[in-house]
Amino acid sequence: MGSTARKVSLTGIKPTGEPHLGNYVGAILPALDLADSYESMYFIADYHALTTVRDPALLRHYTRSVAATWLAAGLDPDRTTFYRQSDIPEIFELAWVMSCMSAKGLMNRAHAYKAARDRNREAGREDLDAGVNMGLFNYPVLMAVDILIVEADVVPVGRDQLQHVEYAADIAGSFNSIYGDRYKLKIPKPVVPEEGTAHTLPGTDGRKMSKSYGNTIPLFAPEPALKKVIRRITTDSVPVEAPKEPDSSSVFTLLERFGDPAVVAETRARLIAGGMGWGEVKAQLTEALNDRFAPMRDRYEALVASGSELDDLLAHGADKARKQTRPVLERVRDAVGIS
Ligand code: TRP
Repeated sequence: MGSTARKVSLTGIKPTGEPHLGNYVGAILPALDLADSYESMYFIADYHALTTVRDPALLRHYTRSVAATWLAAGLDPDRTTFYRQSDIPEIFELAWVMSCMSAKGLMNRAHAYKAARDRNREAGREDLDAGVNMGLFNYPVLMAVDILIVEADVVPVGRDQLQHVEYAADIAGSFNSIYGDRYKLKIPKPVVPEEGTAHTLPGTDGRKMSKSYGNTIPLFAPEPALKKVIRRITTDSVPVEAPKEPDSSSVFTLLERFGDPAVVAETRARLIAGGMGWGEVKAQLTEALNDRFAPMRDRYEALVASGSELDDLLAHGADKARKQTRPVLERVRDAVGIS
């Protein structure tokens, strides 16, 4: 049960791609900030990724790469609890119990499942469930369990994950209404970071940086690869001599975000005055990103390398997490009549 002052925040990270700059600013930094005000738990939702990632080497790579990224970005495994979902067997046992508490109709209305059916409808398929596996359908139940089993008070999520946290609260409520006199699960609350400028970055095409738009800048690319991506950032074709609107291209917006303030101010003035080309701004951005992320990249490289301390760190995190998950599962088993 813990002390009454204990407020837990839980962040789940699905390992389905290479971390990019938008993840860093939009998810990683705000989630790491929570460690100041909450007992913070972070985990890699590797079994959630199995609903889509079907290449074992790739799943293993993404899992280690995402873990290494968060550690390199400043996650402190001593001050927080950092673990891999698949290392916590209690989650999967509780998932069955909670699936027995979850209305199927609720799952029918889940956004991701509905979107899959919409895609089939648009493609003119007769079977609207074509290509939908039970993992996708049950995804919200497993996610609810991730949250309920650590008795999280708050769950920081992007807007797209809000419904999942609401489902977790809903499913906990169903359990509590049946077994509440024996044991009550904690009802979690979502926290959504402001969708303001602080947490969003434009991608190479000017739209919000997102893997689904294919406009991302990788977080730990070596300099030549970084250069190449930055060269692709869309700009207008105003000639070098002509005055330019600094905010018309994401090159400048990104430079503003990561560059030295003095350089940024001077660049803004030179763009407005004319005589500065976008190519030069791109070179400044490459340098700024390289300066800012090179030390982090080194740490990342050391951690993803096989045989690094990453595996020990995660194993230790799992031990710590299971101190919380075991008693919760125990109480649930007892409440439902399994002993
Ligand atoms: N569904 C989340 C995503 O796609 C990942 C996730 C799994 C998660 N379990 C969680 C997030 C529990 C928060 C809490 O990003």
